[in-house]
Parts: sequence; structure tokens; C-alpha cells
Amino acid sequence: MFADDVWSRSEEIFADLRELGAVHRTRLANGVPVTLIVRHREAQAALLNPRLGKDADELREAISTVMASEQRHVSFSGMYMRNMLNSDAPEHRRLRKLVSSAFTPKRVEALRPGVVEMAQSLLDAAQARHQDTGRPMELMEEFAIALPVMVMCELLGVPHSDRLQFRMWTEHLMRDEPEYTEPASKAIEDYFTRLIPSKRDSPGEDLLSALVSASVDSDQLSTEELLGTSFLLLVAGHDTTVNLIGNGAFWLLRHPHRWQQLARTPALVPRAVEELLRLDSPVRAASPRFAREDIDIAGTTIPAGDIVLICLGSANRDDEQFPNADDMQLPREMSAHLAFGHGVHYCLGAAQARMVGHVAFTELVTRFPGARLAIGLEDVRRRASSIMSGLQRLPVWLQ
Ligand code: HEM
Repeated sequence: MFADDVWSRSEEIFADLRELGAVHRTRLANGVPVTLIVRHREAQAALLNPRLGKDADELREAISTVMASEQRHVSFSGMYMRNMLNSDAPEHRRLRKLVSSAFTPKRVEALRPGVVEMAQSLLDAAQARHQDTGRPMELMEEFAIALPVMVMCELLGVPHSDRLQFRMWTEHLMRDEPEYTEPASKAIEDYFTRLIPSKRDSPGEDLLSALVSASVDSDQLSTEELLGTSFLLLVAGHDTTVNLIGNGAFWLLRHPHRWQQLARTPALVPRAVEELLRLDSPVRAASPRFAREDIDIAGTTIPAGDIVLICLGSANRDDEQFPNADDMQLPREMSAHLAFGHGVHYCLGAAQARMVGHVAFTELVTRFPGARLAIGLEDVRRRASSIMSGLQRLPVWLQ
């Protein structure tokens, strides 16, 4: 089911799967057999289930075993490095505590004025280009991708001159094809291997400098953990926010009265962001887990060693949880969307993602209240990824 033509039809495919049952078996594009959980109730329970493990070494082993039984080989990118997302308790608790001590709400709020400035300067440039060329703005390229990469560079203290490289690496990393993921993963690893010692020597105000010296009860992150954490923050923080802005703008432009409603009442933007996160979730599936033992979910036994993907985007469109789940309702009486995950691995960057989303949509709708899609709905294409859900391009007429 993860073949090339699936991505742009995934809404209908997952709707059919939810209808058929909560649990399904399929294969990723790289051949790895996986169990999918597609309904909300079971997805939420699975995210809380400690028998679904995340430990990087064990997960790599589980995937290798599954693949070896089919005489196939699989390679692992930096996505499987040692970091909090790839660990279970008690290691997870320790890493999350150390990183949280540096990645504080205060740090996120301090970023806000800079994010407003970056958003405004990107939109100034896009508007000027639009006026010069008479062409539509390419919203993905010129805004949805450009803004989060600037924010992540700012957060981590990466020189702005390197942001184009970062943008390419993170995009390649999210594809399912090893010819892209492996070189990108190596490049990011090499980059942080050079950057971390420089933060030790001359610390700045950035998060990476704070992580280098972060300490809880005289415990600190090792160099390997710093590398894994930098990698995780970049990967987890960049493409996800790109998709929040891209998918969200797409939905609002498909329903121009919603776009205009926000332009008239920007105070509604935070609630709109929650509904957009639910309706077109930036993360299609939570990162892979493996069954530590046989697990029964909704009457299906998932055998020990199986790789499990919890489909957040699908769960968020489950009518059982969200009445008329395919409709955008503003405001919606919302309960428990899973766009940021659930349980111990709940997104550590949710506050930052929301802040960037609020700024991005407020700037877009108030500056261009009459914006229109410059592409037919049938031509909108999704990028190929079993984990992320985002658009390839989104041309927009500015007004
Ligand atoms: C709209 C944007 C974002 C979305 C939709 C999102 C979504 C998620 C999801 C679904 C998870 C849980 C994955 C799992 O259980 O397998 C997660 C974890 C995480 N996210 Fe985000 N994320 C976003 C932005 C960010 C940002 C901006 C950062 C950091 C700057 C970030 C850092 C993290 C980290 C560190 C984790 C791992 C937490 C843990 O394992 O305890 N995320 N995110």
C-alpha cells in the first residue's frame, strides 16, 4: 500500500482501512512488513502501551530480523540514532528531563519576535517577486519550507548561511529511499559533529549551547547523546512544521471563506491551528515501534517482533472520535487529536510548533485576505513518505 501512487490518495485509502478494521498488515516502500493501527481508540491506546518498544538497538534488530527472514537487507539512517524518541523508560525519562531543562517555554517565547520578523520578510520578498513576475507565489518553497528552516537554525544556533543545506538534508531524510536518506543522514551527523565542539568552546544563547552544559542532578548528555538529540530536534522540528503550514494553508484556501474568516478575526487562529493539525496531520504515522511480546489489539494478535506504525493522520479522521471528521469546523469542540502523539513521547516541541503556526497563519491571512489557489485540486501532489504527510508544491495567487 505504500506504492508510488498512494500518497495523493491516502485520505480515501485510510478511510477504507478504518471502515474495514483497526489493525492491518502491509509493507513499506523499502519492503519492511509492518502492522498499521488506523482507528483513534486503538491508536491512542497503542501510544500508551509500554509493550510497544522504541529502543533504537532493539528496533534495528527487530527490523533486521524481519527482513532477514525474507532474504532482504535494510540499512539504517540517523533516524535510528540514540535519542529520547528512540528509547524507552528509564533512559527516555533521563534524556527528556535533560533536554527539557534547556528547551524551556521561556526559550520558545523568546523566539517569537524573531519568527514574526522572519515571516514578514519572507512574505515581503514573495510579494515583490509576485509583482515583478506576475507569477503565483510558490507557498511551499517561499514560505512553508523557508520559515521553519530559519526557525530551527535560530533555535539551534546554526549559521543562517547553512540553512539551504539543512533544508535539502531534512527533505531527503524524510523520503523512504536509502539513496536519499543515507547521504543526508551522514551529512547532518558530520555537520553536528563539527558544530557541537564549537558550542563547547564558545557558547552562545542558542539551545545547542544550552544542551552542551545542561545538567540535572549532576548528570549530563554525553557527546553521542548530544549528537542524537541535535539530529532529533532538527528532524522532528523542521519537516513537521513545514507540513503544518503547507497542509493548513491548502485547507484554508480550499475553503476561502475560512481563510477570510481568519483574516477578519485573527484571534481564531490558535483554534484553527488545532483543527488543521487534526484534519491534515503533518505526521502521517508515529515513528516505528516493535512488539516486545504478542499483543492483542482489537481482536488481532500482533506477534512479538512485529514492526508497528500508529497512523496518527488516520486516527484524527476517525468519525467515532470526531463527528464529521472530514469537515473543517471552526471552532470545533475538540478532544484529544493525536497530531503531536500521546503519552511519554508526546511532542517536546509542541509549544514551538504552535507558536510558529500561529505566527505563520496570522501573517498569511492578514496580509493576503483575498489569496486564491493557483492549482486545481486534482493537481495537488503529496510527497512520498510513510511517516510525514506534506505537499510537493502549492502555488497561490496573492491578493
Ligand atoms: C507541527 C509540528 C510538529 C508535529 C506535528 C510534531 C509531531 C510529533 C509527534 C507525533 C511526536 C511523537 C512521535 C512518536 O510517538 O513516535 C513528536 C515527538 C517529538 N517532537 Fe514533535 N512535532 C512537531 C514539531 C516539533 C518541533 C518544532 C520540535 C523541536 C524543536 C519537535 C521535537 C520533538 C521531539 C524532541 C520529540 C520526541 C519526544 C520524546 O520522544 O519524548 N517537534 N512530535
